[in-house]
Amino acid sequence: MEVIISETYEEMSRLAAREVARMLNSKPNAVLGLATGSTPLGLYKELVRMHKEEGLDFSQVTTFNLDEYVGLTKDHPQSYHYFMHENLFKHINIPVQNVYIPSGTTDNYRAFCAWYEQRIREVGGIDLQILGIGSDGHIAFNEPSSSLGSRTRIKTLARQTIEDNARFFEKIEDVPVFAITMGVGTILEARQIILVANGEKKADAVARAVEGPVTSMITASALQLHPDCTVFLDRPAAGKLQMIDYYQWVQAKQPGAPKT
Ligand code: GLP
Repeated sequence: MEVIISETYEEMSRLAAREVARMLNSKPNAVLGLATGSTPLGLYKELVRMHKEEGLDFSQVTTFNLDEYVGLTKDHPQSYHYFMHENLFKHINIPVQNVYIPSGTTDNYRAFCAWYEQRIREVGGIDLQILGIGSDGHIAFNEPSSSLGSRTRIKTLARQTIEDNARFFEKIEDVPVFAITMGVGTILEARQIILVANGEKKADAVARAVEGPVTSMITASALQLHPDCTVFLDRPAAGKLQMIDYYQWVQAKQPGAPKT
């Protein structure tokens, strides 16, 4: 894994967005995997800026979101459908038919999950997957003890996740208990992965994901098995990394590294 440490959240978001732009410039019809949560907001803001000011083009892009709460309709302000529309899609030129988000209101979850996986395969797989990380080390909604080979399915949220996400709802009882989520196995098939994390609250999860053993107890640790995964952090989120000096050394020496 490559670890890139920034001084600020804004800089972290800019560097991560630059990676997405690089992908779109080399492959205008790229397939992006998208995440929700407060962490990628800066990244999406930067992509919107690049679209408006620099002409970053999404007209041929296809996107697949990681997850959705079960039971929330598309227009529910806390649904991930709503989040994506408000924070990204309505500001860029992506065709609506190219946007895929798991349904939280289907009447057949099993069939929907199979269809979602099939659609990802049919478009040629995900080129670049964006991830955040939960404070319990989860990616998407793959809670501790999720199989590292898991596919898109229904998961029961951990208490920790419900508590963490309660800040977006009026009361904790309103947080859905179930979610539909891509599996760890689904995520690992993306050709490139970037994970963004900021703030001290994520420092433990980040250290265990990047430097701890690969374990289903920290599903983000499975990213260690991926050949092209970059972790973008701000300084507080990097605070518990043992190898921080090495990551910064690598970052500083990077301009001199062979390019081909
Ligand atoms: C939810 C999402 C994850 C996200 C996590 C962290 O659980 N399913 O994809 O990474 O929240 O959210 P935040 O960035 O708000 O800390």
